[in-house]
Amino acid sequence: MKVLDAKFVQDYMRMADDGFQMGWHERNGGNLTYRIKAEEIESVKDNLTETDNWVEIGTEVPGLAGEFFLTTGSGRFFRNVVIDPETSIGIIEVSADGTKYRTLWGLKDSKPTSELPSHLMNHEVKKRVTNGKHRVIYHAHTTNVIALTFVLPLNDEVFTRELWEMATECPVVFPDGIGVVDWMVPGGRDIAVATSKLMEKYDAAIWAHHGMFCSGEDFDLTFGLMHTIEKSAEILVKVMSMTNAKRQTIEPDQFRDLAKDFKVTLPEKFLYEKKDKTFGFADFN
Ligand code: 13P
Ligand code: ZN
Repeated sequence: MKVLDAKFVQDYMRMADDGFQMGWHERNGGNLTYRIKAEEIESVKDNLTETDNWVEIGTEVPGLAGEFFLTTGSGRFFRNVVIDPETSIGIIEVSADGTKYRTLWGLKDSKPTSELPSHLMNHEVKKRVTNGKHRVIYHAHTTNVIALTFVLPLNDEVFTRELWEMATECPVVFPDGIGVVDWMVPGGRDIAVATSKLMEKYDAAIWAHHGMFCSGEDFDLTFGLMHTIEKSAEILVKVMSMTNAKRQTIEPDQFRDLAKDFKVTLPEKFLYEKKDKTFGFADFN
């Protein structure tokens, strides 16, 4: 089968275009990777070109040795994925020692995203902690989440609790919470290590003044997670624009009731008693 006719490639391109339509991918902002299933890579193998051009990843991911990924290209625009896929995206293979990759299809005059170390380290963690279920890692420049990183204390507790409070479905969609990475230089191993550490316990990690990473089993769930968190952030930005203190909100015991009925476990560290009705300002500096 031709690569572009494969369903997993079609679904990947649709998600990239959905992200662009949401306004999360200005210029070359954001990147998307998918860990391809054995039967999917088999279905397109006649249209892949093997070379000896192995390139350093910039980190080690032995847990991904021999795995194949769809990835966006570095400097490529999400806006162009559907109209010029062979330039905008590509298929890569990770070497047997987990330190290198080679391109097998696409990425014409390009190379994988500069965030490949973060993507692959996140994939390695998620493959391990979900027993291979998670396959998608998505980085987007989500406007409202980024705005919040200029005003809220940069910690997991405040971001999780404030975003949970903004929409009743939030604690059901991301019951484990959200991690926050302080501002760091993007594109390298250090930020990849910091992010993948958070991915041990969360499915979403915010990069201060930059964007967000989400992980999930498939394109729908991963896009849906990004969408839910960003929408919640949008509501929070609106609330903060109207007032410096909430008049009413969802209280810790109400979250506990919700958790029981929806059969999710909400870590108690996010259900702290607040000192006042502001946005975590009094509880964390
Ligand atoms: P790439 O174009 O290399 O994917 O970089 C975009 C980005 O969002 C960096 O964080
Ligand atoms: Zn980015």
